Amino acid sequence: MTSPPARASALDLIGNTPIVLLEGASEAAGCEIWGKCEFANPGASVKDRAALWIVRDAEKRGELRPGGTVVEGTAGNTGIGIALVANALGYKCVIVMPDNQSQEKMATLRALGAELVTVPPTKFADPAHFVHTSRRIAEETENAIWANQFDNVANRRAHIESTAPEIWEQLEGRVDGFTCAVGTGGTLAGTGMGLREKDENVRIALTDPYGAALFNYYAHGELKAEGSSVAEGIGQGRITANLEGLEVDTQFRVSDEEGLQWVARLLREEGLCLGLSSGINVAGAVMLGRQLVAEGREDPRVATILCDTGFRYLSTLYNAEWLREKGLPVFDWLRSS
Ligand SMILES: Cc1ncc(COP(=O)(O)O)c(C=O)c1O
Repeated sequence: MTSPPARASALDLIGNTPIVLLEGASEAAGCEIWGKCEFANPGASVKDRAALWIVRDAEKRGELRPGGTVVEGTAGNTGIGIALVANALGYKCVIVMPDNQSQEKMATLRALGAELVTVPPTKFADPAHFVHTSRRIAEETENAIWANQFDNVANRRAHIESTAPEIWEQLEGRVDGFTCAVGTGGTLAGTGMGLREKDENVRIALTDPYGAALFNYYAHGELKAEGSSVAEGIGQGRITANLEGLEVDTQFRVSDEEGLQWVARLLREEGLCLGLSSGINVAGAVMLGRQLVAEGREDPRVATILCDTGFRYLSTLYNAEWLREKGLPVFDWLRSS
């Protein structure tokens, strides 16, 4: 086994995450399912990559100057990534998030020194939406940039240039399918496009939670949401700039109950404590694996993203009372609490 190389800067700790064979998921799919361990980034989520690429891109374009401020609207993980990158490079940051996100994310952002602004959750069309609020704050702040993760394609470039080539190399040039859910679309589009650069036959699948509009868009050409989900960081109602130009081969929809079953299995069977978007991704990867097996592909390999650590959701996903309140099944081992 080789140890990871020495790094000259803490920012170089972003990316180059391990990939792990998921035994339970592989067994369920009848083929290899691999999970890219994005919880191993310094900010414990996949969004560190987008944060680094967005900040570096703004520097390169001369928009972010020394002492400047990075402003972003985020479900939390991008904010955590931006706060770490901003600290490392001497910038300030202002993070705007909906106030229904986990307490752990808010406490983490405050602990990292970010200025935190919370707003009530509302429709994207409402000017008070967290995304628009963050844009206004950036416009009103001197020497500030708006990270604009949804429509700034530096986000997906992070995955074209880092996530995809890493997966390709780690799986020794044999990847048959890739799937994940969409928040901004940076991970799905960037990793999908990057893998297709290596092999145009890699099947790219959307795994959508309920409450998002993309499943219907890719299946029937109509942006239409049905149902709802408590998953944080995923669930999109429009084609963001990061999604533009991505050809999706197939799409799956996964309920919170199904995602939670995988969260439970990943924890109890494999020892991985993850958030709900990871469980939803693994459910989708199993569906994609089964589809490839049914079509007769020989020993297909599917990769997906283990987006963030479950430690970020102790007060929600791993809290019996919260699960009961949401009408969701309580994990067996939490039933007595
Ligand atoms: C926990 C979690 N999973 C998945 C995603 C989705 O990633 P992307 O924005 O690249 O679509 C996010 C984005 O914030 C997230 O926070």
